[in-house]
Amino acid sequence: MPRGKLGRMKVETPDEETARRYLLWLPGERLHHEPETLPRISSQALFGPFRSDAPLELEIGCGTGEFLRSRAESRPGTNFVGVDLHVKSLYRAVSGAAERELDNVLFVRADFNLLYPLLVPESLAAAYLLFPDPGMKERQRRRRIFSGRFLQEMHEALETGGRLVAVTDHEEYFCRMVELAERAEGWGLAPDEGFDDSAPQTRFGSLWEGRGRSANALTLVKK
Ligand SMILES: C[S@@+](CC[C@H](N)C(=O)[O-])C[C@H]1O[C@@H](n2cnc3c(N)ncnc32)[C@H](O)[C@@H]1O
Repeated sequence: MPRGKLGRMKVETPDEETARRYLLWLPGERLHHEPETLPRISSQALFGPFRSDAPLELEIGCGTGEFLRSRAESRPGTNFVGVDLHVKSLYRAVSGAAERELDNVLFVRADFNLLYPLLVPESLAAAYLLFPDPGMKERQRRRRIFSGRFLQEMHEALETGGRLVAVTDHEEYFCRMVELAERAEGWGLAPDEGFDDSAPQTRFGSLWEGRGRSANALTLVKK
């Protein structure tokens, strides 16, 4: 099956109160021209006074949010932020979090490539990039999230010892990730234990597994 046709989603728009609680919309225009007017990606700015000291984990391209929701349920002492561009996926992620009344997860609609100015140095305990779009055309490949700049920005945003986990079923993208990671400074290479078999599945992880495609994981640790 072609990559772009993995099922159509029927999703209900969350009510106003649920959207206000779980969804933050950061328009590209404002991210581009006036990022200083927007809240930063930190526990303090996004989770209110009672959770402002909790560690923060970030998922980039969180899609329908299964991974984050499961982690948020099993780690109530940690805050989780999921970023994605696709509004219907985020509506589904939001409704999953609202059904469970989670108070430690928030979803951000934004282009992650424009979000760098809102990241706070040394603020993330972990960051996940799970089954990112590999891009079919050369132009799309140039806009891949995992890049030299991505590694630099994530290095700055992670705490020392913080983990960056990237998982993909796409072999060429994985080789490129490893190549970029080997060239980047300030990272240690961890074995796969940062994303083991007990890690919660993502929607695309399950879909590809069901079609017999295996995935590779790269876990980097900030030195
Ligand atoms: C193949 S899906 C994987 C979703 C989820 N991680 C999973 O494994 O089920 C890739 C996701 O990345 C999102 N995405 C692609 N480019 C993005 C960008 N520049 N900023 C934020 N999200 C992006 C897409 O909207 C899509 O939801």
